[in-house]
Amino acid sequence: MFDLDGVLADTAVLHRAAWQQLADEIGAPLDEATAGRMKGVDRRGSLDILLERAPRSYSEAEKVALAARKNSYYVELIGRLGPQDLLPGARAAVESVRRAGLKTALASASRNAPQLLDRLGIAALFDYAVDAGRIARSKPDPEIFLAAASGLGVAPEECLGVEDAAAGIAALHAAGMAAVGIGRAQELDKADVLLPDIAAFDISRFIA
Ligand code: BG6
Ligand code: MG
Repeated sequence: MFDLDGVLADTAVLHRAAWQQLADEIGAPLDEATAGRMKGVDRRGSLDILLERAPRSYSEAEKVALAARKNSYYVELIGRLGPQDLLPGARAAVESVRRAGLKTALASASRNAPQLLDRLGIAALFDYAVDAGRIARSKPDPEIFLAAASGLGVAPEECLGVEDAAAGIAALHAAGMAAVGIGRAQELDKADVLLPDIAAFDISRFIA
């Protein structure tokens, strides 16, 4: 199973930029460590993390509006993306899994994932894509990965997940799955295997 943002496309930086714009507008500090905690976490969960250090508190209705505002910035940023914005090796990585006779699922917390898959031209590469709108508990909860396994009809222990976020690695492990981390050891020290980028992914390494 594949995460999308930060694994297949460089959209983690776009989420980050959209949050930064909102953070600046409301005067909430957003440093690297906080941004790292927000990675992989759903929209509302990310907002709650950002607001931990906001200069004032917000009502429920205001929070809904703030989350919508961030999303409008993000949607604007992804509006012009196309197949050229796939990370190098991303398409080949998913295709290699299929060629090995294995099933592929997308497990992205983003409710913009369906639109992004279409824009990137990779929707057809997945046997199953989780509908993030139906996931109640955000990564690091295992719910999204268990839903992906069940959508594929595969036991969790037989699944391998690829993730760029610490919350995603924790979610994979909580689901009983092996976790490939894409990024730096600093952030992803819990990953079973750490790769610098998706281009380094080699499925033959994981097949017995
Ligand atoms: C995850 C991103 O894939 O999706 C998070 O890593 C983001 O940064 C989350 O908050 C939810 O995305 P969206 O598009 O539904 O706001
Ligand atoms: Mg990600």
